[in-house]
Amino acid sequence: MSAGGGRPPLAGGARGALALLVFALLTALAAGGAAAALDLAEADGRPGLGLEDIRRRFGGDPAGSALVRRLAGPDGAHVADPIRRAGLLEWALAPGRPDFDAAAHRAAFEAEWAAVVGRDCRPCHGPDAARPLLRYADLEPYLAPPVGPPFRRLAARTARILGLGSLLLLAAAALGVAAGFRGGRPPAILVGPAAAGLLVEEAGVWAVRLTGAGAVLVPAGALLAAGGLVLLLLAALRGLLLPPPDRNRSR
Ligand code: HEC
Repeated sequence: MSAGGGRPPLAGGARGALALLVFALLTALAAGGAAAALDLAEADGRPGLGLEDIRRRFGGDPAGSALVRRLAGPDGAHVADPIRRAGLLEWALAPGRPDFDAAAHRAAFEAEWAAVVGRDCRPCHGPDAARPLLRYADLEPYLAPPVGPPFRRLAARTARILGLGSLLLLAAAALGVAAGFRGGRPPAILVGPAAAGLLVEEAGVWAVRLTGAGAVLVPAGALLAAGGLVLLLLAALRGLLLPPPDRNRSR
């Protein structure tokens, strides 16, 4: 931090503070990205993050409710008796059928399935578990097959895009300040890829409701946005940490 002559005395401290801000932004972005990926993963009931997870998360899953997915996937195996397992899956599929009778469904749970769930699901979904699922009321939220667009999720996505857009503006401002230190103008074009990525990602989330192929846009947009932001922040850091060019030397 001793490089460069003729700079105002405040510059060193301000540069340090800005470098810290840029570092904090990068860390926040990495943490947010990881959290978002974790949130998406296994939406299709299988481990790992894939396009199907994105399609299910934002496009809904016409094949069945969350309970059906769990029972057809990893959690079904915990019902040791195959006949009981098939019966429980059959019971879970009922709410998606046109002749669904809610009262009979609940009665069947109390008469037959409460005991099975109480024994086979208890190890992970007992009363003290993070997600207790032993009573009908506990299971009810997972019974309904998704119908219509999950607007709350889409609204949350849009809020996230707005938040990331603000981050982008902050990063662009940091770049502007950094360029100021170097006595140049900020390369405005650097904001482009990140902004385009955000738009592509958001467009993908909405497109996925119309066509499953839209799921490709989500990771593509996220990558573009993340790459663009990293580029932007690196340019800002470079401007902050490198000494300003010597004006007297001709280029
Ligand atoms: C060995 C542990 C284990 C057992 C046994 C188990 N589950 Fe799960 N279950 C999980 C885990 C892990 C998750 C995902 C994490 C979470 O959200 O709790 C989960 C999630 C769920 C969900 C939520 C799905 C969603 O999309 O949010 C339902 C419904 C479910 N389980 C039903 C059952 C039923 C019914 C049984 C009994 C047949 C059962 N589970 C047995 C571990 C288990």
